[in-house]
Amino acid sequence: MSTTDHRELESAIPEHLRKPGLCPFRSSAEPPPYPTYVARFSKDINQVVMCYLGIQLRPEGNRKALKAAAISVEELVSLASGPLYVDQAKGVDGDEYETHIFALFWDSVMAYQHWCASDLVQGWWESNQREEDGVGYFKEVFMPKIDFFETHYATPEFQSLGNLADAMSGEIKEHAYWGAMRHRIPAAQYDSLASVGLPSVVSKHDNAKRKLVVPHDYMCLIRSGQNWENADQTEIALYQKVILPSLVQGMGYLSEQGLEIGCYSNRFVTLLCEDGYIARQSYGLSYWSGLDALEKWASSHQTHLKIFAAAQEYMSKLGSEARLTTYHEVAVMAADEQYFEYINCHPSTGLLQLA
Ligand code: HEM
Repeated sequence: MSTTDHRELESAIPEHLRKPGLCPFRSSAEPPPYPTYVARFSKDINQVVMCYLGIQLRPEGNRKALKAAAISVEELVSLASGPLYVDQAKGVDGDEYETHIFALFWDSVMAYQHWCASDLVQGWWESNQREEDGVGYFKEVFMPKIDFFETHYATPEFQSLGNLADAMSGEIKEHAYWGAMRHRIPAAQYDSLASVGLPSVVSKHDNAKRKLVVPHDYMCLIRSGQNWENADQTEIALYQKVILPSLVQGMGYLSEQGLEIGCYSNRFVTLLCEDGYIARQSYGLSYWSGLDALEKWASSHQTHLKIFAAAQEYMSKLGSEARLTTYHEVAVMAADEQYFEYINCHPSTGLLQLA
C-alpha cells in the first residue's frame, strides 16, 4: 500500500456551502495520485469581483500614450477604494497589438462599485480623451457569487484570486479526473450550470468608439497561471523545453481558432514585477460559452492533452523537487454579473470578435 493512501483529504467545497447528501461528489474513489489545494474564503464573502482593465496599442502606435495611460491606471488603482489585489501583465495579441492588462480584484461588489463611481475613476473612464488618445481600452468585469467559482492550486501558495482568501485548504479530494473542476464549484451540487443564449455587440450611447458586449447567462472564465519564480536554471530549461511549447501551441489554438469550440476569447500574457520588469510568471485568460465547452476542451482536445502529457513528463523527471507551480480559477456567471466595454479597440479584441 502506498503512503499516499493515508493522507487526510478534504472536500474542495467549504463546509458552509456543502449540501447534505450531495457533497463530496467523489467519496469512494481512489485517493488522487498527487496533492492539490483550494483557497478558503471568509464566510462573509458572498461575491468577488475580477476586473481586467486593458490598454492596447497598435504596432506603430505612440508608445508615450500607452505609458501615460498605464500611469493613469496605476494612480486610480492606488486610491483608497482601489482593489485588494492587483497584478499587471503584458502580451502581444494575434493582431500584433501590445496589450497591458491590470487584474483588479475586490471581495465585494459594493467596494468595486464604490471605486468605479469615484469622480477620478469615472471621470477618467468616461472622458472623451479615452476615445482620442490613440490607445485602445477595455474593461472586462466578472462578479461571480461565492458558490459559482473555484480555485485550484498545485501547491499551497496564494496566487491571483487566492490572495483574497483567508487560508489555503488541506489536500482536496476532487481532482485528478476529468470533471473534477465542476465538482469543486459549490453550485454544481444543485445547478447544471448550462449556459443559455449568445452574446451580442452594441454601441454605448450610439458612440461608435465605445462598444458594449451584452453577455449571456452562465458564460465562464478561466485564468490558468504558471509561476516558475522559484525554479533554478536547470528547471527553467526543462520548463522551456517540455511544457512551454505545448502551452504556447494550446494558447495559440484558443486565441486563433477557439470560437469553433466555444472559446470566445483567449489571451496569453506574462506578469510584470512591481518594478515593471518581466516576472517568471504567465497566465492564460479565456472566456467561454459555458463550463461544458471548457470541460470538453480540457478533457479531449489534443492541445490541452499535450499540455497535460508535458506536465506528467515534467513531474516524472522532477517529482517533489519541482518548483514550478500552476493554478487556475474558474467562474460561471449570470449575465448581470459580467460587464464588457471596449473603447477604440481593434475588432478582434476580447469579445468584440463576436460582432
Ligand atoms: C502549464 C500549463 C498547464 C498545465 C501544467 C496543466 C495541467 C493540468 C492538470 C495536471 C490538470 C488536472 C488537474 C487535477 O485535477 O489534478 C488540468 C486540468 C485542467 N486544465 Fe490544465 N494545464 C495547463 C494549462 C491549462 C490552460 C491554459 C487551461 C485553460 C485555458 C487549462 C484548463 C484546464 C481545465 C479546465 C482543467 C480541469 C478539467 C476538469 O477537471 O474537468 N489548463 N490541467
